[in-house]
Amino acid sequence: MGEKWTAVRIRGCKGAERIVCLTAHDYSVARVLDEAGIHLVLVGDSLAMTALGYQTTLPVTMREMLHHTAAVARGVRSALVVADMPFMSYQESVEQAVRNAGRFIKSAGADAVKLEGGALRVPAIKAITANGIPVLGHIGLTPQSIREFGSYRVQGRETETAAKLVDDARALEDAGAFAVVLECMPVELGRRITAGVGIPTIGIGAGPHCDGQVLVTHDLLGLYAGKSPKFAKRYADLGSEMKRAVASYRDEVAGGVFPDADHSY
Ligand code: KIV
Repeated sequence: MGEKWTAVRIRGCKGAERIVCLTAHDYSVARVLDEAGIHLVLVGDSLAMTALGYQTTLPVTMREMLHHTAAVARGVRSALVVADMPFMSYQESVEQAVRNAGRFIKSAGADAVKLEGGALRVPAIKAITANGIPVLGHIGLTPQSIREFGSYRVQGRETETAAKLVDDARALEDAGAFAVVLECMPVELGRRITAGVGIPTIGIGAGPHCDGQVLVTHDLLGLYAGKSPKFAKRYADLGSEMKRAVASYRDEVAGGVFPDADHSY
């Protein structure tokens, strides 16, 4: 087992080592990612769509996120486990944000939390980090704001919106975030933000200049039946492979081939 990844260690990767991150929401997948040397395992609220079948990330609850985070934490030994704070678990007040962030650390075994939004989130991030909980920021296409955006589209194409995202990243750094996720923005803006902050940027559809990259594991493995975004490179087609294996099992059971002597007592 490699040395444990901490938020301090991830922060120290800026300019030194690229940070490799993926999502997980159960014990078995978390173990695979950890054993493969992934540095940061995110229990993303994308599990609302990939595991729970919702159309957006909005419905997933604290209870569900705590349940999945605990399963992931049991499977990880080396990676940093970051729990995504679900929609409306930190927006109401600073007190609510600190209380719910604490639940991920105390009862689910996470090492850090992630929350979406820029300068607006500074009071919550300051209070959470002041209470000893590392925070990963997330700006750009923040899926919890889908009702405001109207669609999942590239952010920061215009001069003003790009400048706002640069300011947001700086505000998150000043508030104490140890790194920031940049989602779905032009390559040049990803480069500009990365050069403009002292904390690592972790890109998802934000180009190659970020200090690290994250993908949703279901997209990478070809397991998500819904539409994947352009930035989600598919490294395997496990969905087809699973269908093939399940169909073989179906045929063998129907034909009386399984179980054979090798699988009987
Ligand atoms: O929920 C999620 O999976 C995310 C992404 C950044 C991967 O927030």
